[in-house]
Amino acid sequence: MRIIYLDNAATTPLHPQALEAMKPFLMEKFGNPSSIHSFGRETRAALDENRDKLARLLGAKSSEIFFTSSGTEATNFGLKGVSPELLREGRNHIITSKAEHHATLETCEYLGEHGFNITYLDVDGYGMINPDDIQKAINQNTGLISLMLANNEVGTINLIREIGAIAKENQIIFHTDAVQAFGKIPVNVDELGVDLLSLSAHKIYGPKGIGLLYIRQGIEIEKLIHGGRQERGRRAGTENVAYAVGFAKAADLICENRESEYRRMKDLKNKMREILLSRFQYLIINGHLTESLQNILSVSFDSEKMKIDGESLMMNLDLAGIAVSSGSACTSGSIKPSHVLMAMGRDEETAKATIRFSFGRATTMEDIDYTLGYLEDIIKRIGKTIV
Ligand SMILES: Cc1ncc(COP(=O)(O)O)c(C=O)c1O
Repeated sequence: MRIIYLDNAATTPLHPQALEAMKPFLMEKFGNPSSIHSFGRETRAALDENRDKLARLLGAKSSEIFFTSSGTEATNFGLKGVSPELLREGRNHIITSKAEHHATLETCEYLGEHGFNITYLDVDGYGMINPDDIQKAINQNTGLISLMLANNEVGTINLIREIGAIAKENQIIFHTDAVQAFGKIPVNVDELGVDLLSLSAHKIYGPKGIGLLYIRQGIEIEKLIHGGRQERGRRAGTENVAYAVGFAKAADLICENRESEYRRMKDLKNKMREILLSRFQYLIINGHLTESLQNILSVSFDSEKMKIDGESLMMNLDLAGIAVSSGSACTSGSIKPSHVLMAMGRDEETAKATIRFSFGRATTMEDIDYTLGYLEDIIKRIGKTIV
């Protein structure tokens, strides 16, 4: 059976060149970067060099890059880290959106229980935030805005530069989650006008278990983990040098091929969308038509025209060797529709009848054709047309 992986927004396989770069640091180059002997100096130099590399790719300074264990940790670090100073200043209002990743939503919820007022902005039918809504939501206590650069479920890219300019004008700290966007579209901290930015290695063919937070120089941020002096005293614990090396290598590689891959993905997405629309008339394409990542294609079956369960669709595709994501999540034993699709105005049944295809560097047009063939068969079998 052919195996086709179309869930690259969930995670990506490690790039062989990233693995090769990591290997020496998993074996012979094992020194603790805090040690002052040659073993330690060797890994310290590697850590510095790879921090530099990542900083360069983001247009940041090396001293502004802090390694974390994941994108989720980076966002927790950023939002929680700035909160004590904001509370001291009486700036206890945070603006975010209803379509954010759980890493942001849950952290905001936590801060909401610890002295902050949170505004969760609506998104439009494409999952996009309107900068005017941000302007309207700002009050004299607003201290922080956190909005994602590109959405992980539907791919929509937000107008982060415009929002960055609004944040700057109002002297509000601005965080963006660039976990899905990095390596797919240009991500430069000055061009975007962000103060805090989260990344994760495993979405870009790096290892799982490492991410980073960019913290603009001058932003006051509390320690995340107390202990030694690692990560300039903000996140204690012996550094994961091998993973930092793999992260930087993967980042370098994805950025090097970004433009050609963008064009290739655009082609795949356009073709898949056209074929889907020609075969299924009750299909809804989720996400913005132009302002969207080219590797994510999310589609829903309109619940007023067809009854189909996204989970069964996903499981049937899985049985055929095709991995995709559905538009729902299993929370405490029950199937909940995606909060992103609901925020975009989909009804519950349509949100549940959603699948997300996300392409990667290994995806070919043949994979898409093969998937579409199975999709048609499965839908004939398990879909019930209403009209
Ligand atoms: C937009 C977005 N933010 C944050 C994360 C969390 O990253 P990590 O898996 O490294 O914690 C993800 C991963 O799904 C994501 O898609």
